Amino acid sequence: MAEERKISMAVVRRLPRYYRYLGELLQKGVNKISSRELSEKMNVTASQIRQDLNNFGGFGQQGYGYNVEYLYEEIGKILGLHQNYKMIIVGVGNLGQAIANSNSFSRRGFKLVGLFDVNPKLIGMSIHGVEVMDVDRMEQFVKENGVEIAILTMPKTRVKETAEKLAQWGIKGLWNFSPVDLFLPENVQVENVHLSHSLMTLAYMISEAKIEEEKERH
Ligand code: NAI
Repeated sequence: MAEERKISMAVVRRLPRYYRYLGELLQKGVNKISSRELSEKMNVTASQIRQDLNNFGGFGQQGYGYNVEYLYEEIGKILGLHQNYKMIIVGVGNLGQAIANSNSFSRRGFKLVGLFDVNPKLIGMSIHGVEVMDVDRMEQFVKENGVEIAILTMPKTRVKETAEKLAQWGIKGLWNFSPVDLFLPENVQVENVHLSHSLMTLAYMISEAKIEEEKERH
């Protein structure tokens, strides 16, 4: 376990993609795969794959390749997917509802147990059997239910104070969608998701490609 902790975040950020590919291979009944085959499928160099996967103890065997199921299980363990997480959503507007309506997280052990908002029109409503509650009830709910993850999809003006309270109440991780950087005690992990950053990266790639096309034309 101590060794696993040293995996660089750059590698960790690539693991979910390996996990997805390996899961798909397993579903197709593929039991072993070489780094070359995996590299062709994933469009990553074979040496990158070997380097990444060797990080947590050479699962590959020379001349045999990787045992897909073993690798899938091990990556799942490293990612912490062998346990279940109770989650709540704070802010049940457009984005919060879209996340609540998606059932893809629960398959991986992320269980949505509560929804919280300040809007009386939303309170009492339920999405896939999960009730929208008043934020006044959040502290008790988090503590009584051992909620570990809070998804922050509320207006940015209120995020900092909410995040700080959640940290005091024992939340382990915040999935932060609001465009605010959160600085919290070390025992609370924060993962930011910014679709607009991804879109800006796409804009950059398009402008670069246009510049290249222009150069080729002249
Ligand atoms: P929205 O206005 O539809 O929903 C916000 C909800 O938060 C409302 O239901 C409102 O009643 C509730 N709310 C207000 N104060 C609250 C409080 N103190 N506690 C709990 N709930 C509270 O807004 P939308 O479009 O769903 O966006 C929500 C947040 O997500 C915004 O901060 C927005 O900037 C961000 N966002 C982030 C994206 C990303 O890619 N990271 C993409 C889209 C939005």
